Amino acid sequence: MNTFYLTTPIYYVNDKPHIGHAYTTILADVLTRFHRTAGEDVFFLTGLDEHGQKVQQAAEQRGVAPKHHCDEMAPRFLELWEKLHIQNDDFIRTTEKRHVEVVQKILQEVFDNGDIYEDEYEGLYSVSEERFITEKEAESGEFRDIKNIKEKNYFFKMSQYQQPLIDHINNNPGFIQPEHRKNEVLGFLKKPLGDLCISRPKSRLNWGIELPFDSNYVTYVWFDALINYVTAVGYNVHDPNFKKYWPANYHLIGKDILTTHSVYWPTMLMSAKLPLPLGIFAHGWWLSGESKMSKSLGNVVDPLDLIEEYGVDPVRYYLMREMVLGQDASFTMESFIKRYNSDLANDFGNLLSRVSNLLNKFFEGKIPKEEDDSPEGIVIKENGIKVVAEVWDQIETMRVNDAIESTLQFVRSVNKYMETKAPWKMAKEDLNATGKVLFTAAEALRVSAVLLDPVMPNRTKVVLETFNAQGSGLDWGGLTPGNKLNQHDVLFPRIDVKKLKKSNQTESKSVSPSNVITFDEFKNVDLQTAKVLRAEKVDGADKLLKIEVEVGDEKRQIISGIAQYYTPEELLGKMVVVVTNLKPATIFGIESHGMLLAAKKGKELTLITIDGEQVSSGMQIY
Ligand code: MSP
Repeated sequence: MNTFYLTTPIYYVNDKPHIGHAYTTILADVLTRFHRTAGEDVFFLTGLDEHGQKVQQAAEQRGVAPKHHCDEMAPRFLELWEKLHIQNDDFIRTTEKRHVEVVQKILQEVFDNGDIYEDEYEGLYSVSEERFITEKEAESGEFRDIKNIKEKNYFFKMSQYQQPLIDHINNNPGFIQPEHRKNEVLGFLKKPLGDLCISRPKSRLNWGIELPFDSNYVTYVWFDALINYVTAVGYNVHDPNFKKYWPANYHLIGKDILTTHSVYWPTMLMSAKLPLPLGIFAHGWWLSGESKMSKSLGNVVDPLDLIEEYGVDPVRYYLMREMVLGQDASFTMESFIKRYNSDLANDFGNLLSRVSNLLNKFFEGKIPKEEDDSPEGIVIKENGIKVVAEVWDQIETMRVNDAIESTLQFVRSVNKYMETKAPWKMAKEDLNATGKVLFTAAEALRVSAVLLDPVMPNRTKVVLETFNAQGSGLDWGGLTPGNKLNQHDVLFPRIDVKKLKKSNQTESKSVSPSNVITFDEFKNVDLQTAKVLRAEKVDGADKLLKIEVEVGDEKRQIISGIAQYYTPEELLGKMVVVVTNLKPATIFGIESHGMLLAAKKGKELTLITIDGEQVSSGMQIY
């Protein structure tokens, strides 16, 4: 029997799950449901990435121990998977003993192979990004908490596998998909590949898996996390389960974690002498309208709100239909409702209510004897057979949105067929022919429901139950003549757009629940007027100015990324606005106590200044 092993990324537990996490997990669920239907032996893995700085910081902020934090976050993900009807076979957490053991075993093997060495490294380290950064990156002003670090670390000889990796990618065209991502990786591999720092000294970070060969260090979170894919299937070449499922058919990932998966992971596997995954598939990002979803912009879509409002199947449907696999997609409430009303309420739902109403009216709610042998009826049957092969081909080539569209096109053609044949009129003259049309339409609807079942497992069940056809397969002819129909509710009640516009709160609640802050929260930001006393350039950083301001009786130093907009002289004496209770940060090795407010559009930036005789430094701003 063919096996199909599919993984999602393991999610960081530094925050609650959002639509991006939900998307990949639903995608994996849909694909594995299809493969299960095809009779394959499927293994679907998802889980949580629990080590590393991000998680440690999230726990610190909440004032709890990291493991305690993880134990509290894990149920939130599990609850979402349950609500989304995710049928995963395993849920791995990187703090589990089974994983810790495998990571240490692999580290030891790679170490014994001579692929790990110790070296002293000096460089700029971004605490927030958890990695060493280049001087150019440091100057960009995008990184906070930059430290100059000089320390001993362990390095994995990744560079040694650069050519074998390039060869592997070229010899296996399906290894990195879609094609443009493969080219991106090959482009990246044109430059010499460095070695990978795989340790963090415990003095700096202790929330991680201890190196088996040096207890003063923990493992770099990515070296730990990627290994989850082999832990879950029982890493051990002699384990029958491992032999059965590894290598994985696909690692599903988002485009932002392409390098870790298609460079770090394969080279790690090469060193551990394990086969590489057969495919790595990178999907795009969900944008909120046109913008990136981010907590600070307050536009992150919460999947739980959507499910509560519209039910799980429409959410699954929308996410799968709207995103072209490999490209970014834009989430808007308008497009959600449009899809819902047109595809689900009008096309699919309407076909069910038409067919079942007519069968109830003219055939005592029973499936008629035979199918339509008129030319139009034969076309529906032929297309009903064709669409199954087409959808399967699209699923196998990871074109889920196309597979859904093919099915919906078929549903639309059946609605057209009903309109052409008009069985409601026909019934007055020829009941036998009417029965045939309704049989063919019902059978076409049944096949469509089976095809949509992996995407919408709940509502398609209602369709199949209506025709007493639960468990019927994709082959044409699954309906049993004479079977009594069951009652059903409205499959997808139309969303009244006008009503929705009136109660606009609903929309803002589900699309951007974190967009609003209370007055008290706003008051937490301490804004004060401040007078610039001194300003100078920061050596070696083109964009930064070191500014000394007076805030009432107090003087403070602020590092600000405005050197391209203002000369130090221009700033002297200006009355600016400062956020005074911002957590101090070290930027380019210099402490910064606060932030200047500025207005920015494109390449223009202007500091917010206050004029007036009454104005002095240290005034509170409301
Ligand atoms: N823990 C790592 C993955 C380790 S896998 C061995 C990680 N976690 S994450 O929680 O930050 O992100 C998990 C996935 O969510 C990534 O694939 C990322 O691309 C995806 N998404 C995060 N935001 C997203 C959108 N707005 N849209 C779609 N997916 C996005 O990275």
